[in-house]
Amino acid sequence: MRAKKVRKSKKRKRHPNYVSKHTKRVDFLSRIGTYVMLTVAAACLVFAVYIVVDNTRVPTQASTTYYTAASVMYEYESLPPVGEFAHDEAVSETEVVELVEEPDVETVSWIQILSPSDDYLSYDYPSYDYYIDEDYPKEYEEDYPLHYTQLSFFMHDNADLYAAFAYRRPDLDMETVIWMVNVSLHVPFFSEVHVNYQPNPLFVSPAFRLPSGFAPEELVPVNSDTCWLRATPETVAAFRYFRASARYAGLDISATSAFRTAARQTELWTQNGRRDGAVARPYHSEHQTGRALDLWGPSGLLDRHGPSPTGLWVAANAHYYGFIIRYRAETTQITGYIHEPWHITYVGTEISNYMHQNEILSLEEFVGRNPRAAL
Ligand code: DAL
Ligand code: ZN
Repeated sequence: MRAKKVRKSKKRKRHPNYVSKHTKRVDFLSRIGTYVMLTVAAACLVFAVYIVVDNTRVPTQASTTYYTAASVMYEYESLPPVGEFAHDEAVSETEVVELVEEPDVETVSWIQILSPSDDYLSYDYPSYDYYIDEDYPKEYEEDYPLHYTQLSFFMHDNADLYAAFAYRRPDLDMETVIWMVNVSLHVPFFSEVHVNYQPNPLFVSPAFRLPSGFAPEELVPVNSDTCWLRATPETVAAFRYFRASARYAGLDISATSAFRTAARQTELWTQNGRRDGAVARPYHSEHQTGRALDLWGPSGLLDRHGPSPTGLWVAANAHYYGFIIRYRAETTQITGYIHEPWHITYVGTEISNYMHQNEILSLEEFVGRNPRAAL
């Protein structure tokens, strides 16, 4: 009998713990998949916890106001892209010059929006020609007190104008007459316009404008995490210090408007019906100098609807940081602009402290009393 051929299995004997390469690969891939899924699940969980915690957290005054200011700013300003900040190419020079030189506005229309009781200067000015008329009494000139000519801000070239303005305004003391004439406040706003770019302080007003094509030498972001709001480096440094001190005092301020190009100022002025008194004409705005900031307080534009602790703190402390409240209620007839408690201007601590100590409320008066240095 033929022995049954025992067919030897060709299969090699494997070790009981043997795992095939294929199984290994499948195992490896499924392990990777599990890790990935676990990681994603963990990330989702962390994110969900973060959302829950973030929503239940009581937001601090600072973060609320900051983001409100930033988001509202888009509507309020609809600022041009950052690239447009450095140059004024958006509006042609001719267009701006036409706008600036031949404005289609009533020069004194701003008087209508001022309080009628605030009549410090609400005076029906005669035309500029009147002042250069030779008709005012010569004997007044002869009586001209000598000591006024020795004042540091007595400008001999203006002597006739001082005498004429003093004659027209007997209610003003002679020093006031002199500084006012020095900054062309003896004539209606915008009827006489001088170009100024003396840097300390850089003074603009209805009677003083920046040269065509003016742009600050350098602009830096006011906030470290937003690039569209810019001002000069000195202004930003002083403002950060000012804002930090406000926070230390438990108050929150942020900047909602800073540097504006002439093009942007033209847009705002046009939107405002080309009226004077609230929005400055292009080249007449401090925002174009990069040294002015509009502040945002706890309830919007700082003190727009009346005094608040934050506004009072700002007004009382701005000078320590080199800022002034540029458009005060008391000076509407001097500055030509309504009370803007939110608009601060960086002039440096030397000037801001000097103005504070000497109770000089307007930059007009400071410059009028220091024309040799400031104009
Ligand atoms: N509101 C201020 C006067 C400006 O437009 O510059
Ligand atoms: Zn402003």
